[in-house]
Amino acid sequence: MSANTIRLNQAMSHFDGHDTLWLFGYGSLIYKADFPFLERKPARIHNWSRRFWQGSHDHRGTPEQPGRVVTLIAAPGKVCEGMAYLITPEEFAHLDFREKNGYLRVLTDIEFRGGGCAQGVAYVADQNNSAFLGPASELEIARHIVRSEGPSGKNSDYLLQLAEALRGLDEVDEHVFAIERHLLELTASPL
Ligand code: SIN
Repeated sequence: MSANTIRLNQAMSHFDGHDTLWLFGYGSLIYKADFPFLERKPARIHNWSRRFWQGSHDHRGTPEQPGRVVTLIAAPGKVCEGMAYLITPEEFAHLDFREKNGYLRVLTDIEFRGGGCAQGVAYVADQNNSAFLGPASELEIARHIVRSEGPSGKNSDYLLQLAEALRGLDEVDEHVFAIERHLLELTASPL
């Protein structure tokens, strides 16, 4: 599958005719909501884990030197915490463009932290997209992030802002926090 998913996402008609729908964000969509929304609530989805396994050609890296950003990996029994936004379907135009580097709209059940649930959409970049990088050790991922930068800024800012946003949600994500620890060690100035 091509790394540009705009066309594929535009063909997804699940929420056509709906006035509103819930979007689940688990990466930059937690801390960078650059779209109008009607409501925002901390939420979780089941059977997925957040992993820095997706390449970024357009935001935190370049096609020649992709950065590393998060995607969701199927993980039975695991929970991924994030932020849910109530949006109108018109926002898909902006979101499909923003998430075009390999992410597809996937239907998911969203459980709100305050209680209740709804079906909604998350953007997931699976292993079939050509920008997918796959697993590496958390130290290797930190080394990769330190040297990456793209049109949206430094890859390290993406990681640090995500870690901060997760702390704001009282979420302990060992994968993200281990990469953050390595990155801070790698960038600490020598005494
Ligand atoms: C998301 O935040 O939900 C998708 C991945 C990203 O844009 O960082």
